[in-house]
Amino acid sequence: MTDTPYPHLFSPLNIGHRTLPNRLCLPATVTNFAEKNLITERWSNFLVERARGGTAMVVSEIIAVDPEAVAQATTVIGFDGRNDDGFRNTNELIEAAGGAMIAQLWHPGRQQLWHPTKAPAGVSDGPDPYSWTVAHVMDDSEINNLIDNFIAVAKRLDVCGLAGIELHGAHGYLINQFLSPWSNLRNDDWGVDLAGRTRFVRQLTAGIRAACRPGFIIGLKMPGTESVEGGIDPLEAARITSLLATDGIIDYFAYGQGNFSLSLENHVPDMYFQPGHFLEIHKQMRIAAGGIPVMALGRIGTPEDAEKALADQCSDLIGMSRAHISDAAFGNKAKSGSAESIRPCVFDNSSWGEIHQGKPLAEFHNPMLGQRGEADWLPEPTKVSKKIAIIGAGPAGLEAAWVAAARGHHVELYSASKHVGGALRLEASLPGRGDMTKILDHQLYQIERYGVRLHLDQSIDVTDLIALSVDTIILATGAHPRPPEDFILVDGPLLSGRNYLKGVGRSTIGRYRKAVLIDQDQTAATYGLADQLAADFDELLIVTTRPNFAQSVNYCSSIGVYRRLYGAGVTLIPAVKPVRMAAGTMTLENVYSGQSSTIDSVDAVIYVTPRRVVDGFEPMTIAKVSDKILRIGDCRSPRNLMAAIHDGHHAAMLV
Ligand SMILES: Cc1cc2nc3c(=O)[nH]c(=O)nc-3n(C[C@H](O)[C@H](O)[C@H](O)COP(=O)(O)O)c2cc1C
Ligand code: SF4
Repeated sequence: MTDTPYPHLFSPLNIGHRTLPNRLCLPATVTNFAEKNLITERWSNFLVERARGGTAMVVSEIIAVDPEAVAQATTVIGFDGRNDDGFRNTNELIEAAGGAMIAQLWHPGRQQLWHPTKAPAGVSDGPDPYSWTVAHVMDDSEINNLIDNFIAVAKRLDVCGLAGIELHGAHGYLINQFLSPWSNLRNDDWGVDLAGRTRFVRQLTAGIRAACRPGFIIGLKMPGTESVEGGIDPLEAARITSLLATDGIIDYFAYGQGNFSLSLENHVPDMYFQPGHFLEIHKQMRIAAGGIPVMALGRIGTPEDAEKALADQCSDLIGMSRAHISDAAFGNKAKSGSAESIRPCVFDNSSWGEIHQGKPLAEFHNPMLGQRGEADWLPEPTKVSKKIAIIGAGPAGLEAAWVAAARGHHVELYSASKHVGGALRLEASLPGRGDMTKILDHQLYQIERYGVRLHLDQSIDVTDLIALSVDTIILATGAHPRPPEDFILVDGPLLSGRNYLKGVGRSTIGRYRKAVLIDQDQTAATYGLADQLAADFDELLIVTTRPNFAQSVNYCSSIGVYRRLYGAGVTLIPAVKPVRMAAGTMTLENVYSGQSSTIDSVDAVIYVTPRRVVDGFEPMTIAKVSDKILRIGDCRSPRNLMAAIHDGHHAAMLV
């Protein structure tokens, strides 16, 4: 044990022949930073910076083992020599930082997250529950070819100097499809029973061991539970683990949960799950693994949680994907006793949502993600220190304030409210969304650290604005909800979601029996409000003009949104426009057919709609100081939280 606040986390661990300096691991994390299937500098930076930030083992994102596994242009191909230099250079930089690089070998089989570029090859002809893709069922020789392809890629990476590979046998992908009685319906030697279902992975591990240097690490990520009836449950996972452990080839096991059924939400458990939600399963797997190191994963976000998991003997290694996306220097900060400076992950899954849409990985409050030097990044000092006034202490204003102050500017931050945070603080008051305040807490920590002068409960009026003798005024005053357009309200309470939460106008609601929520927003915060309304009213209906709900919620978290809403008996009415409300009856019009329908006995209508920029200043006033003014966040253009924070960051880098 070492002398740190987290002695288990920062104790060494032997994996195969290698000793890791600590127990922290970046598990495989798709970044979509590659281009034309080739490694880019940013792809490499993402991994290297986590090693520089104190993470002992970094696992690359999925690496395609053959052309049929190439999901999209950002999938790095492992079977093509053009990536050798990229692997070699990345590995050297990771080693120089004291880390070990593992590449995750991947074949999706029938599970098509994006779209197949070739005919997908799979285990059986059951459709992928997510995309309904039916794969070509591989015969004996095709399976043997694929095994050879996996081994060839492992060998190539061994020659490039990597510490090892991890086989992606979790989340329902090809290896998982072989292992699971739910997806493996074969009647030949590759299925039927435990021996048949594990044959593919055992041939892979044996082949890779024979082909590569002694000491080349071989890891397996597999399900601790698939959470589907007839699939791998913890008992079956323990049986598979024990059997594979007896081969003495696998150097570590990692356990992800769920597959592409609705259990997919378990693979990136969001803020509605408990911290360390699956640790009891990992504990069982650790026993089954009989001394082979086991990695726990899943909503472990703080050094305290990681330390506890290790101390409770749930695992030997701690995998943190999202906590490492938000802060590359998680390890160094924890080790040095400054855990309070870690940029926290709030497990809202926005980052996952980005890559799921095929976009490059992006993070709420880490605009430097994937840049060289990210792990110890500080904004470049300014050459000329300016006086800056920031009006509005929501997430955009807070971010601009600390970054500008860290650059050496003199920053005064004004908030009309008694608290910082604006709409984000309101969102954090909703059921299950309390962790969102951690973003504000971190910004407040930075503000204090860099000496921003915060003026709470201080409205700035026209005279003040002109009188502020500053070089730059940053307006971050946010945006206000606007009533639904073309909606005729004859009578009855009509409240914005924000006012409802603040209690403004609630006295106009006579009975709390039936509410209608007009959803022209579809973000996670709106469904947090819906959860609140479902608890407050006997009956809740949600109407939207779109054909679906939750379209601005990442797919995994949207599963939870629907589960909670349907579980609470909420009625969802898509594709309708609310046109009129009179005497408790709301009239709706189908946006496609024009057909009318009504909802009777409505006690309150609450709306969340596209917002309108507010700064409270007359254009004439603004004109007088226009050369000094920058607008950021919603006050520039009402968008989402990530855009607001990134806007604040970029503005502060410009001044
Ligand atoms: C953006 C993102 C990309 C991911 N990509 C992969 C991947 O390529 N391979 C994989 O096995 N798991 C992938 N995962 C799952 C993580 O490795 C991990 O199992 C999961 O996020 C739970 O860990 P966490 O709670 O620490 O985030 C990804 C997760 C995220 C958030
Ligand atoms: S975007 Fe959200 S879930 Fe993703 S790393 Fe950041 S805080 Fe965590």
